[in-house]
Amino acid sequence: MSSTTGPLRLAVVGAGVIGRHHARVAVQHDDLEIVALVDAIPAAATSAADEIEAMGVARPVTTETIEQAIAETDIDVVAICAPSGMHVQLAEAALAAGKHVVIEKPLDTTMPRAREIARLAREARERGLVTSVISQHRFDPASVAVAQAAHGGGFGTVTSGVASVAWYRSQGYYDSGDWRGTWDLDGGGSVMNQGVHTVDLLVWTLGRPVEISAQTALLAHDRIEVEDTAVATVRFENGALGVIHCTTAAYPGLSARYAVYGTHGSAIVDDDRLSYFHIAPDSATLESASTTANATAVADAVDQKADVVPAEHVVGGPAEPDHFVAGHSRQYADIVAAIRSGSEPGVTVDAALVSLATVRGLYVSATLGQAVRIDDVIEGRYDDVVPVVGAASTATEGAVR
Ligand SMILES: NC(=O)c1ccc[n+]([C@@H]2O[C@H](COP(=O)([O-])OP(=O)(O)OC[C@H]3O[C@@H](n4cnc5c(N)ncnc54)[C@H](O)[C@@H]3O)[C@@H](O)[C@H]2O)c1
Repeated sequence: MSSTTGPLRLAVVGAGVIGRHHARVAVQHDDLEIVALVDAIPAAATSAADEIEAMGVARPVTTETIEQAIAETDIDVVAICAPSGMHVQLAEAALAAGKHVVIEKPLDTTMPRAREIARLAREARERGLVTSVISQHRFDPASVAVAQAAHGGGFGTVTSGVASVAWYRSQGYYDSGDWRGTWDLDGGGSVMNQGVHTVDLLVWTLGRPVEISAQTALLAHDRIEVEDTAVATVRFENGALGVIHCTTAAYPGLSARYAVYGTHGSAIVDDDRLSYFHIAPDSATLESASTTANATAVADAVDQKADVVPAEHVVGGPAEPDHFVAGHSRQYADIVAAIRSGSEPGVTVDAALVSLATVRGLYVSATLGQAVRIDDVIEGRYDDVVPVVGAASTATEGAVR
């Protein structure tokens, strides 16, 4: 069980880009201590341990497997930071050993494995174990403000939302790891790897997605199996409609942004900061707006973004110090609080399952050239579909000829 006297002892599995980041976040957190670094490549774990030691804390043990780490040292929490398609098998091993678990996004790459970890996490919950999935942007103050307004009725009836990730990833990025750009271990391309955070924010804000229709394409990269460009439309449970657009072929690399529009207000978040926020101040204003003849926009609707979040979370404001670390730190604060108090973490495996099903539904829709119900994806109806990039457009061309 968790340490009651000292900080929670964290093991990081996968000492790559994000695993090292988790370790650094733990060093800066008062209630976490990094005690083990696990990597299938010993040199990766060793060099990560060198980095941590150089930060002035005790050197973590290094091992090649999660089982060795669990056998060699006392661990409370295991953070799974290995390639996406390995998340569930490693999380299972940690839960079976009675550890709390943090899983990097995405939950995994296949629905059967994701369903299995959801079942195991529910069982583990009954043994007092917390399992949470990293979605650090749900803790960004700008996104918290937007979600609160959407869920609390501030925006009135939410009618639509748009998520757009217009990023650039070089060919060298895809060539930098064998697992990158593969269906098996990356699980997809610009949506599953890069866009998943913004898709998750749209889903969190607009509510449960019901149906998705999508198209994908591979337009600007070689030697990858997955899409570098995708678009989709989504219908949500409350009737709202959404658009998803993700690409890693937008030179020179622009922003990740999402917008939420409603009958009483709207907001835009751009690269984790508030770009626009407005809620109608009172019912008289709404009444006047709705009865004004031929109105196309509401006069004097001031942008309230600077009143809603601190200046460093507003577009154009000062930079947040150490922004990338701050994101994971905010989510770790939530996870540590859940472990200490026995409460649910802010991002549960069940919530991550819905976001994963939305991404998987996008690929299934693009492959089959038809709309796909998210509940059918969750329940396993499309488990056997092998995704194909650009399949819908190929099918249409074929039909025209
Ligand atoms: N939350 C975020 O913003 C964010 C950012 C980047 C990556 N990620 C996620 O983190 C995960 C890792 O991405 P990355 O960019 O750090 O990849 P990476 O390739 O840099 O690191 C992965 C590491 O895992 C190791 N590994 C492979 N199999 C292993 C095993 N069985 N046991 C232990 N270690 C193993 C590899 O040797 C490698 O060092 C992915 O799922 C990715 O989607 C999340």
